[in-house]
Amino acid sequence: MISFQTLLPWSSLTDFFAIIPVALLVLLSHSTIVLVLLFSLLFLVKSKHITKKISYGQSNNAQLASNLPPGPTPWPIIGNLPEIWRNKPTFRWILGLMKQLDTDIACIRLGNTHVIPVTCPEIAREFLKKYDSVFASRPLTMATAYASSNFLSIAPTPWGDQWKKMRKVVASNIINPQTLRWLLNKRMEENDNLVRFIYNQCINSTKHGNIANSSGSVIDLRLVTRQYTGNVIRKMMFNTRYFGKGKEDGGPGKEEEEHVDSLFTVLGNVYSFALSDYVPWLRLLDLEGHEKIVSECMRIINGYHDPIIDDRVKEWNEGQRKEPEDLLDAFLLAKDSNGKPALSIEEIKAICTDLIFATVDNPANAVEWAMAEMLNNPEILQKATMEIDAVVGNKDRLVQETDLPKLNYITACAREAFRIHPIAPFNLPHVSNADATVAGYFIPKGSHVLLSRSGLGRNPKVWDEPLTFKPERHLKEGSSSKVDLTEQELRFISFSTGRRGCMGVALGTELTIMLLARLIQGFTWNVPPGESKIDISEAEDSLSLAKPLHAIATPRLSTSVYSTLS
Ligand code: HEM
Repeated sequence: MISFQTLLPWSSLTDFFAIIPVALLVLLSHSTIVLVLLFSLLFLVKSKHITKKISYGQSNNAQLASNLPPGPTPWPIIGNLPEIWRNKPTFRWILGLMKQLDTDIACIRLGNTHVIPVTCPEIAREFLKKYDSVFASRPLTMATAYASSNFLSIAPTPWGDQWKKMRKVVASNIINPQTLRWLLNKRMEENDNLVRFIYNQCINSTKHGNIANSSGSVIDLRLVTRQYTGNVIRKMMFNTRYFGKGKEDGGPGKEEEEHVDSLFTVLGNVYSFALSDYVPWLRLLDLEGHEKIVSECMRIINGYHDPIIDDRVKEWNEGQRKEPEDLLDAFLLAKDSNGKPALSIEEIKAICTDLIFATVDNPANAVEWAMAEMLNNPEILQKATMEIDAVVGNKDRLVQETDLPKLNYITACAREAFRIHPIAPFNLPHVSNADATVAGYFIPKGSHVLLSRSGLGRNPKVWDEPLTFKPERHLKEGSSSKVDLTEQELRFISFSTGRRGCMGVALGTELTIMLLARLIQGFTWNVPPGESKIDISEAEDSLSLAKPLHAIATPRLSTSVYSTLS
């Protein structure tokens, strides 16, 4: 049922009317006869309108509208919602459709919204560089409303005064080089704890004789990487690794596991093509159960953050605190130009959560994938290990932040993981605040532009052998010039670019490279007993590894290095 799209006259009907056929469709989806009747009716109505439009000729607007990017013919009122309901996961359906249409840009109408996926860098650059100011907003969705206390934070907040104010406060008071230097000790504690936690598992498993190789232990690298990013941001934000008692061995307690699991569950549910994001009335029915999941996870997350923030406010008000010691204090002390508190307590709660969301997922996912790929390519792992040994100089000291800029090959490995294995199928949506013409197509105001992270990073017209993990491709030929994780030309998406580009490039880079470097420097890694290779299949419903990565770690540095870690 794929054909070139025409903007239909009823796209301006209100969401109220849109609820009726979709709700019917979904509620009665078990009844094939009803579905067939409904679709036949919609098809007849659609054909009638197209005929009418052609015979009456086209206005200027209609001419522009008929020049939308290619995509599936939308049903009246509901657009292509039936297709996304039927074809899960939606991101795979969209990419398959684009391949079938042989296009790098498409238009899929969901309710009244034009969704514009893009898989080629030239077009991506037109959106985020040439027309950056036009495409600088975000959609209002159920999940992001929960995650941002109704759009008080930055990342999910639409273009406007609230977004500008929050971005300014964070850039000037929070995420800048001075603040990062100020909090270096907290990151160092968590860098050491990372190695300590893995080392303790090696020691304990040797004691209990759990594995065939008595000098190592099978490590759950998904748990390790996610808890590392969680620990660093908890420490920087709230000056604590643990919400509860924690664990003697440096591992997460049940509170931290619940916190990180909830963060990842919410992240997996934002911008995930919930029907109610396009037909807001459908929220009443919560047909796919998204709202139940997101609201429960946000209750858990806020249940950990709010008491810490409320207590801290009290401590400052009662004069028990004199000196700021973490990002929360920096938020509480930030002043506007009149010397008044820059942010309300509600805004502080929202922005703390926003920055925690922003920090945990990308580095953990990239490093889990990089390790999986490197375990299957021992020569790459060996080259990376040799680089660290050469830079650090001996086996008596662990990699420090000052070493990171010299780790070019390790950085190339992380960069390659971002290219092939992004955390999310699409960049955060960019919503247009005016009509525009991009790549020769008409893009109506209010469109949701979705740069496909996997579509760009794996585009065979851009990347030679796109699915092969080859860090060398990022090393500039014949020169020792520095590799980094940014990609301004949008040949893949790491931090993106422009007005809505990532605010945490320095911290995000530091976390990613440190995590990868410490894992490789601190331990020799092997595939688990009984396996010849790591299974690097991708999950069906996301871009994560289908199964969390497990590998054997064996300590490779002097014992004294591990024994001094606290
Ligand atoms: C390797 C780690 C990270 C990666 C790959 C990454 C990537 C991204 C991407 C792709 C976006 C969306 C850009 C767009 O809409 O075009 C973004 C937005 C953002 N990131 Fe990051 N990020 C990382 C770490 C961080 C950290 C550590 C922070 C701060 C603590 C942060 C703060 C933000 C904020 C505030 C936004 C929203 C910007 C806006 O909407 O105006 N990120 N990031």
